[in-house]
Amino acid sequence: MAVKADFAKLDSIESRKSGGENLYLRLYQAKMAQNPSAHRFSDPSLVQKERDALTRWIRDCDDRTSPLNLQLLFAFSVPSREALDFIVGLKRQIISVGAGVGYWEFLLQQRGCDVLAFDSNQVYPEGLHYISVKTGGPEVLASHGDRALFLAWPDADESSKLSTDCLNHYKGDVIIHIGELFGETLSSDPWGQSTSKAFQLTLGERFRCVTRMQLPNWPGHADTLTLWRRIPVAVDCDGALFHYFDLPRKRYWPECST
Ligand SMILES: C[S@@+](CC[C@H](N)C(=O)[O-])C[C@H]1O[C@@H](n2cnc3c(N)ncnc32)[C@H](O)[C@@H]1O
Repeated sequence: MAVKADFAKLDSIESRKSGGENLYLRLYQAKMAQNPSAHRFSDPSLVQKERDALTRWIRDCDDRTSPLNLQLLFAFSVPSREALDFIVGLKRQIISVGAGVGYWEFLLQQRGCDVLAFDSNQVYPEGLHYISVKTGGPEVLASHGDRALFLAWPDADESSKLSTDCLNHYKGDVIIHIGELFGETLSSDPWGQSTSKAFQLTLGERFRCVTRMQLPNWPGHADTLTLWRRIPVAVDCDGALFHYFDLPRKRYWPECST
């Protein structure tokens, strides 16, 4: 009954907001409980009929509760409680570019985070937005270097320049990335489905990953939250160059509330 009531909340933006609680996570959990084997859709040992059924279940445009439709209504990656707590715990003001409907950003605001959200606003109509998503692109970052940059599934495909343009305009020291990264993907593209190869190569040259957290994953996803800090000047230590980071005691977060 509770699950049915949760899915009924899909009807309107106000009920999807659900008073700031993480409705999307609950819907994700309910959906995956219905079909735990959906993750096997790309298993070569499946016969075609089984694969077709699983793929249809994941991508059914006519079922408003399908994983594909939930991603369009909320976000590509599912926010876990740990991920939201982690970002809030950074005690940083956030700027998000490519925010889409702004669901993660809404949940962060609800938990006390100061978040500015921008998007070109050509994909998602305003009626789907959870918060005010201002029209703007990577250029807005030039005057917000004091904020941590939040980038969630920035690139719809390899031709997208959003993530690299953000990297080039952003003058701040912290990037929170949500999505897939090199080698951590089920896609045939080793650079993953969310973020261009060009961005990832430049990110690694200018920033270092200091925290990695597993996120709930829809079938076919291998999403993480990673925290990247801009590299400071290199120091010569007896002939070897090092950058100093005050690394957090806990750098890897394998658990998530799924
Ligand atoms: C793949 S969607 C991800 C949306 C959301 N962050 C999420 O995780 O679900 C990429 C978003 O980037 C936006 N976008 C693409 N190019 C942009 C640009 N140059 N400036 C601002 N937003 C852009 C699109 O409108 C879209 O909302």
